[in-house]
Amino acid sequence: MRYTLFFLIGMSFLACKPDKKDEPKPDTDLITGTYAPEDYPLNLPKWMPPLPASPGNSLTKAGVALGRMLFYDPILSRDSTQACATCHQQAKAFTDGLATSPGIRGQNGTRSAMPLVNLAYNTRGFFWDGRSVALEDQALLPIEDHLEMDDTWENVERKLRRHKDYPQQFRQAFGISRKTELTRDLVVKAISQFERTLISAYSRYDRVVWAKEDFPTDEEQRGLELFFIEYAGNQAHPGCSHCHFNPLFTDNNYHNNGLDNVPNLNAFKDLGRGKITGFMTDNGRFRTPSLRNVALSAPYMHDGRFKNLEEVLENYSRGGHGVANEDANIMAFPLTQQDKSDLIAFLKMLTDTSFVNNPAFSNPFKR
Ligand code: HEC
Ligand code: HEC
Repeated sequence: MRYTLFFLIGMSFLACKPDKKDEPKPDTDLITGTYAPEDYPLNLPKWMPPLPASPGNSLTKAGVALGRMLFYDPILSRDSTQACATCHQQAKAFTDGLATSPGIRGQNGTRSAMPLVNLAYNTRGFFWDGRSVALEDQALLPIEDHLEMDDTWENVERKLRRHKDYPQQFRQAFGISRKTELTRDLVVKAISQFERTLISAYSRYDRVVWAKEDFPTDEEQRGLELFFIEYAGNQAHPGCSHCHFNPLFTDNNYHNNGLDNVPNLNAFKDLGRGKITGFMTDNGRFRTPSLRNVALSAPYMHDGRFKNLEEVLENYSRGGHGVANEDANIMAFPLTQQDKSDLIAFLKMLTDTSFVNNPAFSNPFKR
């Protein structure tokens, strides 16, 4: 009995410890290779203001390159059918041409995808209602949004750690040495780095007004004046530049620009900023979108209610509805057919073909 027991213990010992006793198991978690980060230079023309700092996440070439891949890679969605770029397409100034966007379950959200232009300048919160303070917070949300990419971060981390290239790229971008260090925080840092490079500053408007490389047409010149000037004699003009001002064509602030005729401040279908701050006076306020590349980003407003720029202008020219928190700069103004086409000619000057065709912003999987 005693011998059998010893024999069994001996056998099991042998079974567990095969002959290569001294050789360590290969460490499959380890990522090796060089980590030599290089700054990513953002060369801004002189008419653009300096960029606010992005503390804890400065731009590197490897970080931006990785962020670009992640932005275009459907691996971030549950069934690998949807990438950030599905709803944010370069040719449309990184929006999707739809009033509201279907997520991977085919259900639509309630708001229109936003253009991603000059985000690096915005310090007042992201989304139409500003609910994300930093770009890094913003990018955490679409992944787990059931109406968007509908995955879980645990699963996305698992997929990226198993991937044949990504662990190495995360090492190059962030110096990690283990796959387990590849976390959601680094995913959103990389995506945010890429998003901060999406600068549009070389539209026809910039070339004419700042660089003085060209002259405006008569239509463009009249449109430009209408857009900026508020009174000529007794004649009220649009004064669009109160909120959409130079050189970003947004103040990144929250306003009620007079879209909805509601009986009181609690009656807005979408409370917008008010839902975030809890202040009733913020109900129905939304963040001013930049008008750079606006001719490419139809339909318009937070819910995509206007199909084209004509409809937008007609609505502004009717003024607001006298709702308590409507901005004081929203007032009716006359809009002739000529004014309309002049203003549209001006808005089209804000189209930046070098932005929408920039190879650095395009899909890296389609070369
Ligand atoms: C299903 C479509 C869809 C997908 C996929 C999607 N977005 Fe969006 N995106 C939207 C919509 C809609 C909004 C506006 C939502 C709101 O304001 O509530 C938005 C807003 C944003 C904004 C805010 C821009 C600003 O000026 O405030 C950023 C940045 C952004 N998305 C980046 C991303 C990134 C990064 C991904 C991938 C991780 C992504 N989006 C995936 C539809 C989408
Ligand atoms: C009081 C500030 C303010 C003024 C003045 C103003 N806007 Fe706006 N604009 C906004 C806000 C806020 C939004 C977003 C509203 C929303 O979606 O609910 C917006 C949205 C837009 C959009 C839609 C952009 C998009 O991406 O969906 C266009 C186009 C536009 N404005 C053009 C103009 C023009 C042209 C004028 C002058 C006639 C003008 N705005 C005057 C604040 C203003």
